[in-house]
Amino acid sequence: MEQMKVLLKNVGKIRPESAKDYINAGGFEALRKALSMSSDEIIQTLKDSGLRGRGGAGFPTYRKLQFACSTENDTKYVVCNADEGEPGTNKDRILLSGDPCAIFEGMAIVGKAIGAHMGYIYMRGEYVYLREMLYKALENCEKEGCLGKNIMGSGFDFVIKLRMGAGAYVCGEETAMFESIEGKRGEPRYRPPYPGVHGLFGKPTVLNNVETLANIAPIFRNGTEWYRTIGTEGSPGTKLFTVIGNVEKRGVYEFPMGINLKELIYDVCGGIPDGKHLMAVQAGGASGPFINKDQIDIPLEIDYVAASGGRLGCGTILVIDDSNCIVDMVCNNLYFFKEESCGKCTPCREGTTRLYQLARKISDGKGTMKDIDAIKSLGETMNNASFCGLGRSATVPVESAIRNFYPDFERHIDKDFCPVCDREGRMQG
Ligand SMILES: Cc1cc2nc3c(=O)[nH]c(=O)nc-3n(C[C@H](O)[C@H](O)[C@H](O)COP(=O)(O)O)c2cc1C
Ligand code: SF4
Repeated sequence: MEQMKVLLKNVGKIRPESAKDYINAGGFEALRKALSMSSDEIIQTLKDSGLRGRGGAGFPTYRKLQFACSTENDTKYVVCNADEGEPGTNKDRILLSGDPCAIFEGMAIVGKAIGAHMGYIYMRGEYVYLREMLYKALENCEKEGCLGKNIMGSGFDFVIKLRMGAGAYVCGEETAMFESIEGKRGEPRYRPPYPGVHGLFGKPTVLNNVETLANIAPIFRNGTEWYRTIGTEGSPGTKLFTVIGNVEKRGVYEFPMGINLKELIYDVCGGIPDGKHLMAVQAGGASGPFINKDQIDIPLEIDYVAASGGRLGCGTILVIDDSNCIVDMVCNNLYFFKEESCGKCTPCREGTTRLYQLARKISDGKGTMKDIDAIKSLGETMNNASFCGLGRSATVPVESAIRNFYPDFERHIDKDFCPVCDREGRMQG
């Protein structure tokens, strides 16, 4: 099955730091068009395109711009979320390292729409090796008159700055990111007020994921009708999928939204290696549910996956073969959340630690059925009472694993036996 390269079109073909290469490939034509449009026209174009956020929640992009537009303020900001903290995910890295000018172009178009003259890219600390190249790319865009003062003689100014994260997963949450950019401890803020009203430095702000922003220039270049022919009615466009785990051909792939998960694993990625068999898939990142092998015949698009109890999230697909133990996978997953909880609120700070301890107890063959009940009830409290999305979604993987792989939990409890753990030893969190 052939990939459809809209976002990856230039990756590997142009020098990423070269604004000239990007321009020769049709770059900044979209910005030129947007510079001659009114704010309403730009927002209407994004509305007509049906573009939805690729950072996790699938929020309609145009609505964020509308919020920021309807708040009067001389200073506004555009923030690009390049924190990419989901374990195993590297789709944004591919765009940042292969075609950064497309992200800058998307940010400038958003800036033009909302009247912002400053943008920030907040990049994951581990991507520090990209920093110099990105500075060069920004400098080259300014030299070509495509960023900076009086862009393309239009009178519109837009400058982009780069900020590095320090490795905290929670700083991918938008309000924690604002705190971090402002030089404070990266902890989420209470909402409302929402970023469109009170965002970075207390000013109206639009924050989008790297991949979302990379969609904007192709939409303006090729038109919304063209964009709507790709993907599904509710989730137009392509999607980058990071496929990891026990699969022959791991990697980042671009396909129209709606590609079938089973086809992605078997036809595109070559299936499960070493004669083993599929046991589970975790779709949507660390906070996505574990589904079993009978649940994978589904189209990967935002609403369908959500309606079937899943989560497309950032589009990461973790493939797990039958040489793994699902209870151990859950322990490992909960260890991550326990470590990454920022500690600001009690349900998540205490809950993630307690969930990990309970799952570990079961994995070690010392659990009881009461521990399963305790996990469920604690999960409910965390869902209802956690301050931000981290604590609210940390329970999804363990709850889905108990639902979809109940016999595996029973086996650890009733018989203190797991063929995988006994054969290969338990994973250490
Ligand atoms: C704990 C946590 C971590 C997050 N990490 C990321 C991240 O690494 N990258 C990202 O784009 N969004 C992340 N998000 C979602 C952002 O808060 C935000 O919704 C998203 O960047 C919005 O962009 P979009 O509308 O373009 O999808 C995270 C959310 C939470 C709660
Ligand atoms: S839910 Fe967790 S990560 Fe979010 S504020 Fe509370 S302690 Fe911090």
